[in-house]
Parts: sequence; C-alpha cells; structure tokens
Amino acid sequence: MADVLTIVGARPQFIKASPVSRAFKAQGLSEAILHTGQHYDENMSDVFFEELNIPRPHYNLGIGSGHHGAQTGRMLEGIEEILLKTKPKMVLVYGDTNSTLAGALAAVKLHIPLAHVEAGLRSFNKKMPEEVNRILTDHAADLLFPPTETAYKHLLSEGVSKDIMFLTGDVMYDAALQFGEIAKQKSKILSDLGLERGGYVLATVHRAENTDDPARLKRILDALDEFGQNKKVVFPVHPRTRPSIPDAYNNLIYIDPVGYLDMVTLEGNAALIATDSGGVQKEAYFYQVPCVTLREETEWVELVESKWNHLAPPIPGSDILGQLRESMSGQRPPHGNLYGNGDAAVKIAKVIGDRVSKK
Ligand code: UD1
Ligand code: UDP
Repeated sequence: MADVLTIVGARPQFIKASPVSRAFKAQGLSEAILHTGQHYDENMSDVFFEELNIPRPHYNLGIGSGHHGAQTGRMLEGIEEILLKTKPKMVLVYGDTNSTLAGALAAVKLHIPLAHVEAGLRSFNKKMPEEVNRILTDHAADLLFPPTETAYKHLLSEGVSKDIMFLTGDVMYDAALQFGEIAKQKSKILSDLGLERGGYVLATVHRAENTDDPARLKRILDALDEFGQNKKVVFPVHPRTRPSIPDAYNNLIYIDPVGYLDMVTLEGNAALIATDSGGVQKEAYFYQVPCVTLREETEWVELVESKWNHLAPPIPGSDILGQLRESMSGQRPPHGNLYGNGDAAVKIAKVIGDRVSKK
C-alpha cells in the first residue's frame, strides 16, 4: 500500500507533480502515480516524465479525449477500481482539470483522505469547466494547499476550516527554480528556431472559451498576426487549437507543443508573452517577462495587481493589439516573490507525511 496515490492527466499536472514527487522521495514517503491518459500525445505527456524526472506512472488508464461527462465518467470508474485494489492512505490531485475532479470524487466516495494542490483558485466564471472542477474538488478535500493568499482567502470565505488549509506557495515556482539551470544547459530551441533574446513574442492559446468560439479566436489571431509584422510571434500550438487555426496567418510562427525545458527557455527570452494559459501567466512573472492575458478574467489576480500582467479579452471593441504594444514597450514594474520561496513542495510533502504517518 502506497502512502500517497497521485492522480495526474494533463500537461500542467505533470509539471506540478515533479517537485512534489521529489519531496516525497526525500522525506521517505511512498508514492504511486496514476495517469488518467487525458493527455496522451508524446509532446503533451511522455516528454514531461522524461525531462522532469517524474516516476513513471504505475497506472495509465488511457482514457483520452471526449465530452466532459464521458471523459470524467470513464476516469471515475477507472480510478475507483485502482483505489479499491491499492487502498492508498491518501489521494493527491492537482489543479482543476477533469482528471482532478474524477480523482477527487473517486477518493471521497471511498472515504480515502484527499489532498488538493493549487486549491482556492477562482475565476468566478462558472462557464469555465475548470471553475466547477476546482470548487467541487476543494469542497471534497481533507487537506488544501492554496498557493497564494488570495486563494487562501477564497477558501476561508467559502467556509473551509483553517485547520485543513496550508498556504505553501506555488509548486510551479519550485519547478521553475529546479529546472531553470538545466533548461539553460540543455535547450537548443532558440538556435533551432533562429531566435534571439528579446527578439520575439511567445503566444499560447488553448482555453475552450477561445478555441471553440471562432469570433474570439479570430480576434486573437488577427491581433497577433498584425503584431507579427514587426516582431516575430512564436506560437506553440496546443492540439485542441490546431484544427481551428487557419493557415492564412503569415506572420505567426506555428510550432508543435514543446517540452518544458524548451518552453521555459522560450518564455525566459521572450520580449512579451500573450496567453490564455494559467501556468504560462505565472511563468512569465517568474522570468520577469510582461504578459498579456487573452481572457476577461484571471485566477492569478496578483499578477494583474502587480502590473506584470494585463487582461486583453477577445471581445468586440477590445484593443488586443494596443495592449500588446503597450505591454511590450512599457516600464517594468517592481518584482517580488508572489508565489513563495521555492519550497512549496517540501511543505506540502511534510504536511501529507505527518497526516499519513498518523493513520
Ligand atoms: C485540459 C484542461 C484545462 C487545462 C489543459 C492544459 C479540462 C476540462 N481542461 O484542456 O483546464 O488548462 O488541459 O493543457 O480538463 N488533444 C490531443 N492530444 C492530447 C490531448 C488533447 O490531440 O494529448 C486534443 C483532443 O482533440 C482533445 C482536445 O485536445 O479533444 C482537448 O483535450 P482535453 O484534455 O479534453 O482538454 P484541454 O483543452 O487539453
Ligand atoms: N508548456 C510546455 N510546452 C508548451 C506549452 C506549455 O511545456 O508547448 C508548459 C508551460 O511551461 C506550463 C504548462 O505547460 O508549465 C502550462 O500548461 P497549459 O498551458 O497547457 O495549461 P494551464 O496552465 O492553462 O492549465
């Protein structure tokens, strides 16, 4: 019986799990990893396990893509079977994907204690599948690890007891610190793409609200393409977005999704980042690169408050192009450590270790 069964399934979860797995190992906790198979392309999954030294998943359910209900339901069934067989002392889930929700539901129904890393994030937009996943997971969990004070306060205001919440900082910052030097040594992406530091903008788009709405996606691509007349725009395309992107945009440099070491290299050397990704917004801040978020709201409000991030929603009348120009040329605001000290994973492993050793 493993102390902890970690459930992951989507790209950002592999990255978040890496420092925590390392901390479990250092503290002598046994961990088994269950991959739901939500992401399955080599460059959306395997590459992260290889680059980030994450233990190979003990179980891979191979669920793949599908509508929310079918995908989450198949995961729930598969996870339950493994939990019944392996009886871990605790289940650990990350973030807000369908894999997170399925893991949370499977655990609580079997009365297995549940821990949630990246708890308390809110966009207050229930049309996002992620918002529903987070709220349900937070309220099912027995241990919550909010990364920021804002997240901690959200949980408090929803009636969650202080006794089960631990403000730790953000494990993505831990990962950025742990792999920053390795990326510098290993990544050849800049020379492969003929890029120079500060000579390009990095763009990513994958949110359902943007990719599944042609008018919103067009507003984003039009603005990026026009910006691309004067500055290179490098665009690693998420597989969700690929079918919706017309080839007509001559000023955009489309590339396949890249591994983490190449991605952080692209981020750290960009003049500007334009994205609708949660993780990429934070990484822009870690590397002190200004960011434009292509959404109406963000869960990472401290980035906007600190002025490292500006919202440019792809709605009628919104001046995305103007915001890209302003953010790239504007003054750099003061920088702090909004996401902790790089020891979030160690703190999380300690709390979980104390809890499972009492069982
Ligand atoms: C999911 C998460 C989202 C997270 C994102 C990280 C949910 C509801 N959404 O969105 O919160 O920000 O992961 O990247 O859980 N596809 C492939 N190959 C893959 C994976 C996906 O081709 O390896 C394509 C399929 O066409 C699939 C589509 O991408 O239908 C969407 O994948 P899915 O996992 O359902 O959602 P994401 O958009 O990736
Ligand atoms: N990422 C990556 N390669 C890419 C795009 C993103 O390694 O081509 C990393 C990125 O550095 C960050 C994480 O994936 O750590 C963010 O995942 P994503 O944008 O898919 O999801 P979100 O954070 O929005 O849930």
